[in-house]
Amino acid sequence: MELWEAIKGRRSVRAFLDRPIERDLLERLLEAAIWAPSGGNAQTWRFVVIDDPAQIRRVRIVSPGLLGDPAAVIIVCQDLTRARAKGGKLGETFLAPIDAAMATQNLLLAAYAEGLGTCTIASFHKKGVGRLLKLSEGVEPILLVSVGWPAEAPPVPPRHREGVFLFEDSNE
Ligand SMILES: Cc1cc2nc3c(=O)[nH]c(=O)nc-3n(C[C@H](O)[C@H](O)[C@H](O)COP(=O)(O)O)c2cc1C
Repeated sequence: MELWEAIKGRRSVRAFLDRPIERDLLERLLEAAIWAPSGGNAQTWRFVVIDDPAQIRRVRIVSPGLLGDPAAVIIVCQDLTRARAKGGKLGETFLAPIDAAMATQNLLLAAYAEGLGTCTIASFHKKGVGRLLKLSEGVEPILLVSVGWPAEAPPVPPRHREGVFLFEDSNE
């Protein structure tokens, strides 16, 4: 798939077909995620994939932003203990969430290129998800990504340009 088509064509999908996703394909999405840049190449991200419908239902209970019935949910986490060991307070509080977001965008674009629909979800209870997944001490979920075969083609939310792009000399 052409890069611009992926960047512009990807949408947040919130309605999915009742069709599973092969583990190999899910792994390819994770492979795309780990090729994202990370501050100091720290790579302290962790990805937990759930594709058991019962577990997805449990995660949904503590995640008001998770809509539809995705075949899988990928929990993009950060090992904050390792992030702190590698990059101090800056690594833990600043670089770690940025790195997680960078990895997430790679994952979204790879999923789109594979014909999958995704939605990034920040509206979830961190402690609730952490408990359900039995995450190790110091590992924190940053974002959820719902993944499934799309059952909708969402409208394109407009992008604004006015006052958004600033070339330094345009302020003169
Ligand atoms: C950090 C972040 C958090 C988001 N959280 C949610 C969420 O909790 N639930 C949801 O349905 N969509 C969520 N979204 C998706 C946005 O609503 C969506 O990206 C935006 O409306 C633009 O639409 P598009 O992704 O189709 O271009 C989130 C997106 C981002 C980047």
